[in-house]
Amino acid sequence: MKLTNKTIVVTGVSSGIGAETARTLRAHGASVIGVDRNEPSLSLDAFVQADLSHPAAIDAAVQQLPAKVDGLCNIAGVPGTAEPQLVARVNYLGLRHLSAALLPRIASGGAIVNVSSVLGAEWPQRLALHRALGAVDGFAAGEAWLDAHPVAAATCYQYFKEALIVWTQMQAQPWFMDTSVRMNCVAPGPVFTPILNEFVTMLGAERAQADAHRIKRPAYADEVAPVIAFLCADESRWINGVNIPVDGGLASTYP
Ligand SMILES: NC(=O)c1ccc[n+]([C@@H]2O[C@H](COP(=O)([O-])OP(=O)(O)OC[C@H]3O[C@@H](n4cnc5c(N)ncnc54)[C@H](O)[C@@H]3O)[C@@H](O)[C@H]2O)c1
Repeated sequence: MKLTNKTIVVTGVSSGIGAETARTLRAHGASVIGVDRNEPSLSLDAFVQADLSHPAAIDAAVQQLPAKVDGLCNIAGVPGTAEPQLVARVNYLGLRHLSAALLPRIASGGAIVNVSSVLGAEWPQRLALHRALGAVDGFAAGEAWLDAHPVAAATCYQYFKEALIVWTQMQAQPWFMDTSVRMNCVAPGPVFTPILNEFVTMLGAERAQADAHRIKRPAYADEVAPVIAFLCADESRWINGVNIPVDGGLASTYP
């Protein structure tokens, strides 16, 4: 993977998949600027502390980032056991806001990688809704749209991962045509990170058991990170607008 001399911004860098992605990118020669609400406990080239659930905090973080970067890995996320409004703000609205704010600073040939989830696999069932929200520009307008189209609290995590996959599909091509910056999703299945148990609580024992029988085991974060890194690298220069499952085959058992 060609990542030498690239500067990549990684959100959610202080834990789990984000931390492992930072390690992988740095091992391949990239400089990594981490962004998280929590202090990191790994070596980084720079770190910006920010709460990515607030547009003003995102704007302040962007001010602290370099004038030119080569990529953005949107990995920060909260599980569905968090407040639904927070899930919307961090996993979707804030991610979009940061991506749009940073896009003008991403060099031609650069990339944005969004971490979705196998739990977003049912996006075709709500495609019209996700397209409508995807067409609403801006954090505040997105919140207003969601006020008018409330999302069920119990499945809000799935809803916003679905919405992220659809927004990525909608936005990737126009951004690539205009700026030569690609955008893709990586969709992990269960991963051994500190929030894995939250997903079991969120889904309930029955669904968690059903999925557990369809996979060998949850992934380790170092089995997901290389795919995110690949999507930042020059070798993936013609991959745009896709959602790549990294789930040991779990999604392939759903249809
Ligand atoms: N672990 C899994 O089984 C799994 C499966 C599929 C998708 N995912 C997705 O992978 C991504 C990473 O999750 P993880 O498992 O590594 O979880 P994690 O809890 O280990 O890491 C998430 C990181 O995001 C940061 N974060 C959360 N809210 C934030 C905010 N408001 N502002 C700034 N930083 C914030 C946290 O501080 C943490 O460092 C998430 O988007 C999650 O939805 C995880």
